[in-house]
Amino acid sequence: MTVRGLLLLAGLALLLSGCGKQQSQPSRSQSVSNAELQGEWLYDNNCAECHENPQPDLHKQPPNLHGLFRRTSLPSGAPVNDAEVRKTIIEGRGTMPAFDQRLRKEDVDDLISYLRKLN
Ligand code: HEC
Repeated sequence: MTVRGLLLLAGLALLLSGCGKQQSQPSRSQSVSNAELQGEWLYDNNCAECHENPQPDLHKQPPNLHGLFRRTSLPSGAPVNDAEVRKTIIEGRGTMPAFDQRLRKEDVDDLISYLRKLN
């Protein structure tokens, strides 16, 4: 093998090891999980329209969901836990629509992860 060939091989090896290193580095901060990111997207697209803006047309205003999991009870009086929040999302409540046809079980899980962190 020529010197040139050896140099090329060495260069290639360096390049490959460099790529390997880059891949093993976490691409984003681990403090925000994928579930929460997905949940945030779902919240922005399904819930924020009502829960982040006043709804002059609705007879009853949607409650503010920030800090929900720090409270002991939901506006309806039910305890704050995954099961009750899941039930509200799936079945709806009053003028809030049911999301059973629009969201998958995993989506509801992700939404709950996000709501737990929403301050
Ligand atoms: C069309 C408007 C609208 C949308 C969209 C909406 N909500 Fe609501 N939500 C309401 C209203 C109005 C209430 C109050 C219902 C009542 O008590 O009569 C409510 C109540 C709630 C409650 C409190 C339930 C309780 O027991 O008091 C939770 C939790 C909630 N919504 C979560 C969500 C989530 C999560 C989404 C997105 C998947 C969502 N909502 C989408 C209007 C909406």
